[in-house]
Amino acid sequence: MQSFDSYSIRQDFPVLTRTNRGKPLVYLDNAATSQKPQCVIDAVAHYYANTNSNVHRGVYELAEQAEVLYQNARDNVAEWLNVSSDEIIFTRGATESLNLIAQSYARTILNEGDVIILSEMEHHANIVPWQMVAEQTGAIIEVAPILDDGSLDREKLSELLSLPEAKLLSLCHVSNVLGTVNPVKEVTKEAHKNHVKVVLDGAQSVPHLKVDLRNLDCDFFVFSGHKLFAPMGVGIAFAKKEYLNDMDPYQGGGDMIDQVNFSKTTYAKGVQRFEAGTPNVAGAIGLGEAIRYLKDINFQHADEHEKKLLHLLREQLQGLDGLVEHGTTDDKAGVFCFSIDGVHPHDLATLLDAEGIAIRTGHHCCQPLMQRLGHESTARASFSIYNTLEDVHIFANALKRVVKILA
Ligand SMILES: Cc1ncc(COP(=O)(O)O)c(C=O)c1O
Repeated sequence: MQSFDSYSIRQDFPVLTRTNRGKPLVYLDNAATSQKPQCVIDAVAHYYANTNSNVHRGVYELAEQAEVLYQNARDNVAEWLNVSSDEIIFTRGATESLNLIAQSYARTILNEGDVIILSEMEHHANIVPWQMVAEQTGAIIEVAPILDDGSLDREKLSELLSLPEAKLLSLCHVSNVLGTVNPVKEVTKEAHKNHVKVVLDGAQSVPHLKVDLRNLDCDFFVFSGHKLFAPMGVGIAFAKKEYLNDMDPYQGGGDMIDQVNFSKTTYAKGVQRFEAGTPNVAGAIGLGEAIRYLKDINFQHADEHEKKLLHLLREQLQGLDGLVEHGTTDDKAGVFCFSIDGVHPHDLATLLDAEGIAIRTGHHCCQPLMQRLGHESTARASFSIYNTLEDVHIFANALKRVVKILA
C-alpha cells in the first residue's frame, strides 16, 4: 500500500489536466460525481474493444470471457464490502437500489400503520421511494430530526425506534450536504434490538470510508459506482442472503426467471431474480476496476487528508463576512456546505466557474434539509482523494474575491 500523496494520485485522472473557462480546473463537486482514473477508462474501453458480448447467454469463448469479467466485478465489490458475491445485486445506482429495496422487500413486509423511519438529512432518493411504498401499504413515515451542528438527534431517533409499529429505518451513512458521518453501527444495533430492519444509503460513504458491511450488520446497503471513481449507470444493492429468496422481483424480463409459461412463470433464486434484462456489463467491469484501484489507497490517510483540506479551508475563510457553514459536527467527511449572507449561491458559483472552480449550488436533492437549514439553496465544495492544498488555496482566495464583488 502506498503512502498518501494527492499530487501523485491526481496524475491518474486525465480530466483534471483540462481547463475550465480557460483556467486550470479545480474540481470541488465530488459529492455529485467523482472523476475517473485512466485504469477505469481503459478497462471499459478494453472490454468493448476485446470482450464485448452479452452475459448469461452464450456458450462461445467471447461470451464466456465477458461472463467471467462480469462475475469478477461482482466478486471485487463483495470482497471490498466484506460480504458474499451472492448478496450483491447490480443496479443502475443508489436511486434504483433504494427503489428496489422499497418495492421488493419493504412492500412485502409493511402493513397499514407500520412505521418507516427516515432522517431529516436524507437525499430525495432516500425519501421518495419510501413515500411511494407508504402510499401503497398504508405505512407511515416518521422523521428523525437533526441537531444544529448537523448531527442526528439520537434521543429522538431512539424514541422512534422504540415505537411498537417501527419496522424499517433507512438512513444515509454520510450526508451529501452536511458531510455528517452517522454512527450507523450503533444505530443498527439499537434498531435490531427493537426488531427494526436497517437500510443504509452509502452513496456518500464509500468514497470516503472503508465500509465493512459484516461489521456494520445492516440488512441492506446501496451505493452508486459513479461517486466511487467508476462509470455512471452502475451501482449495487446489498441484501443479506436471508432476505433474497423471499423478496419480490423488482422488474420482469429475461435473465430473472426460472421457467416461463403463459399460465405461470417462476423466478430465478438469489441476486439474479433482481437483474432483469441485459445488465451494464461495461459499467460493472469499470466498477470492479475502480475498486481494484482503490485497494492501493490507504483510506485512513485519505480521510485524514480530506479533513486536513477542510481544516485549511475553514482557517483560510475565517473572518469572511456573512459566511455560515452548515454541518459542523466533528465526525464529518470532506464536504463544506455554506451560505454567505446576502449573496445568492448561484451567483457565487457562476463567478467561481469563471475562475476555473467547479462547486455545486442548489438544494442538493435535499429540500426537507434545506427547509431545516432555512435556505432554499446553499453552496457546497466537496473534496476527493485527488484534491490538493493548492486547490483549497485557489478556492478560498477566489471565494474571498467573489464575495467582495457580490456582497
Ligand atoms: C446521499 C445520496 N443518496 C443517494 C443519491 C442518489 O445517487 P444516484 O443519483 O447516483 O442514484 C445521492 C446522489 O447524490 C446521494 O448523495
